[in-house]
Amino acid sequence: MEGIEKVCRFLDEAGTYYLATVEGDQPRVRPFGTVLLHDGRLYIQTGKVKPVSKQIAANPRAELCAFKDGQWLRVSGELVEDDRRDVKVAILEKLPVLKGMYSPDDGNMQMLYFKNATATFSSFTAEPEVITF
Ligand SMILES: Cc1cc2nc3c(=O)[nH]c(=O)nc-3n(C[C@H](O)[C@H](O)[C@H](O)COP(=O)(O)O)c2cc1C
Repeated sequence: MEGIEKVCRFLDEAGTYYLATVEGDQPRVRPFGTVLLHDGRLYIQTGKVKPVSKQIAANPRAELCAFKDGQWLRVSGELVEDDRRDVKVAILEKLPVLKGMYSPDDGNMQMLYFKNATATFSSFTAEPEVITF
């Protein structure tokens, strides 16, 4: 399995991750759950109306953290918007529950992928494993 696949699988299995952004000098964090591996990229999904989206537009540096089975994963990097319709369609197919809130042409749905990402798997019992993508 490629490194980025391992990262996406962990996030899928964890179910929830916590996404941190920055607003000025204030960290902001909230639960997220959307994950899509598409064209070799790790995508997440949000709405442009949300503060999180506005924070990323002003400063794309972000980090997420998830925990599962004694292991935690941090992914840090920059989030880049990808407005392509097929990416939006792909996540709506993966997570049909999103269709109640978003559609590809609503002017709100936003797909973001990690660029210059460093993913680190950690635990109390093993050396950290670092994956970049
Ligand atoms: C388990 C869980 C998963 C969530 N996943 C997402 C998600 O993938 N994308 C999203 O935009 N909001 C998601 N939300 C909602 C956001 O946490 C919520 O809208 C939050 O207020 C956004 O941050 P902001 O207020 O700083 O913009 C999720 C909420 C929960 C409880």
